This record gives sequence, structure tokens and C-alpha cells, in this order.
Amino acid sequence: MLAGGLLVSETHEPVMLAEIVELFAEIPDGVLLDATLGLAGHATAILRRHSGLRVVGIDQDDMAITNAQHVKTTLGADAARFDAFRGRFDDAARTLRAVGVEHLSGALFDLGVSSPQLDVAERGFSYRHEARLDMRMNRSAALSAWNIVNEYSVDALADLLQRNADERFAKRIATAIVAARPIDTTTQLAEIVVSAIPAATRRTGGHPAKRTFQALRIEVNSELDILPGALRDVMSMVTPGGRIAVLSYHSGEDRIVKQVMRDAETDHSQPNIATPYAHPSRTAPRAWRKVRVAKTPTSDEVRRNPRAASAKLRVMQRCEVSA
Ligand SMILES: C[S@@+](CC[C@H](N)C(=O)[O-])C[C@H]1O[C@@H](n2cnc3c(N)ncnc32)[C@H](O)[C@@H]1O
Repeated sequence: MLAGGLLVSETHEPVMLAEIVELFAEIPDGVLLDATLGLAGHATAILRRHSGLRVVGIDQDDMAITNAQHVKTTLGADAARFDAFRGRFDDAARTLRAVGVEHLSGALFDLGVSSPQLDVAERGFSYRHEARLDMRMNRSAALSAWNIVNEYSVDALADLLQRNADERFAKRIATAIVAARPIDTTTQLAEIVVSAIPAATRRTGGHPAKRTFQALRIEVNSELDILPGALRDVMSMVTPGGRIAVLSYHSGEDRIVKQVMRDAETDHSQPNIATPYAHPSRTAPRAWRKVRVAKTPTSDEVRRNPRAASAKLRVMQRCEVSA
């Protein structure tokens, strides 16, 4: 990723890369949407493996799109099959249609933050690096972590800590944040969270501020609110034999993905294309089925790339046209 003119995170390892490349190797020729392009690690590997695919990447982070232009120059003849556009994935259908794409052979959502967003200090995502509180994936967005930390009420803060990160000390942390205002930096916030948590629990379950930072990031970027609608919209563009794969990184995300996929699997009102039932019935063939794949990274992958530790992969396939 280009940050201040420097190419960083060249060592980035996309999560469950081999599994994801293989599951898209079987989809029909057409367009694959990478709804969370990031460093384009998955996108470029899929592009190389499947010569019948055009890959359209979307990311709301301008740095990802700048990086994609650099990536394109490294792709040789494959570059003609790769495009990247800035946008939010809940607007993906409009972005795709604007460039003439009406149908998809596949879609990938690799949710959450990218390595550069965490590693480039000034993005203000990480309790490990001193920076102004920010956490906006879209740097033109109005709401930043600074606004939430300095302007939300105790109840609103406690609610988002509970809702977005199952934080059991939500009320204590929220009260400590409001009492310590103004709070300008990531490390200042991390210290306030640590001091709000009972000493005996500070040594368990990773850094004590991890859940607070996760909860704020989700709020800043509306991550959970837009996810179900975005998945449904994109799934409605996938043609028979096509697949959707979603990598999630915490229970709140995975609950939504599981629910949307379960609804699609049991929704008999979306008839199988070859047997268009005028009156949807419980006996109509299914429009989507689950694809059984490894759900989590191997222990070897987690050793090499600890950020993969909480990943969960879910995959669905649009049912084939039946005879
Ligand atoms: C985990 S990274 C993706 C990494 C990527 N698969 C790779 O191989 O490099 C997630 C990316 O999705 C982007 N993102 C997250 N939510 C988004 C949304 N609602 N719309 C568009 N992009 C989003 C983030 O900006 C980030 O760059």
C-alpha cells in the first residue's frame, strides 16, 4: 500500500488465500467482485488462477485504490482483466452497473481492516501507535473515532462497546472516557481503557483496549449496519454456478453472514432459474446452497499470520440451472 509515497506491507499474506483461490477456480467465466479490495492480494491471485474472469475491486479507502493502480502495473497481460473503483460495498451494485456489469460469477467479502490501516500510525486505528483518533476507512467521511469518543453520551458509548465487541466492562469504560475528555490520541484512549478495567482481568484475553478499539472502528465505518443489505444486493447479481465467499473476523459479523446465508438457502421465493415457479412453494428448488470448505485458517497459517486467528470463512453457491 502506498503511504506517504512509500510502498508498505509488501509482506502481507491474504487470509486463507489457497482455499479462496481454489473455490473461485471452479466458477463460470464472467466477473468476480472483490468487495473489499485492500492490498488486492486475493484479487490478483484469483485473476492469475482463472483466466476467464474479469476482477472488479471496490474499496472505500483511497489508499487501496492508489495501491491498485500500482498493482495493475505488475500484472502484465492480466492487467486488462483488473479494475479498481473507490466506493462502499453497500453501493456495489450501482458501481458495477455504472461500468456495464449486470451479473457476477462470484463475489468475495474479506471484512474488517487491512494491514496498512492498522500499521500506518496516522490512520489512528491502532492502540499500538500514537496518533490522533481517526479510524475512518473513507478519509472523506464526516464521523471519526475522535467525534465518538469526545461527543457520545455514557449510555451511547456503553451501548456500542457492548453491541460491537461484547465488552463486559462497557459501562465502566464509557464512564472513564467521558470523565477524561478531551481525549485526542489512540494511546491516551488505550491508557484510559486499561485503567478502567479491574486489575485482575488486565492480564487475560489480549490487550485490554482491543475490544474498545474494535467497537469504535465498527461504529465509525457503520460496518455491521450495512453488511446484510450489501450481501443481499450482491447475491442478487450472482448467476447459476457462481459463488460468494465471506471472511469475517468477529462474532457480530459472523452472526450476520450466517443469517443472510441461511435466509438465502431457505428462501423458496427466489426460484431456481430453470424452473421458474409462478407460485413459490416449499417444494421449489433452492436458489442457493452452502459449499463445504475449511471454515478457519490452519494453525500453521495463524502462526505465520496472527491476524488470521479469528477468521471464519462461509461460502454459498447459486444453484445450477436444472434440466
Ligand atoms: C481485510 S482488508 C481486505 C484485504 C484483501 N482481501 C487483500 O487481499 O489485500 C478489508 C478492506 O475492505 C475495505 N472495506 C471495509 N469495509 C468496506 C466497505 N463497507 N466498503 C468498501 N470497502 C470496505 C477496507 O478499507 C479494507 O481495505
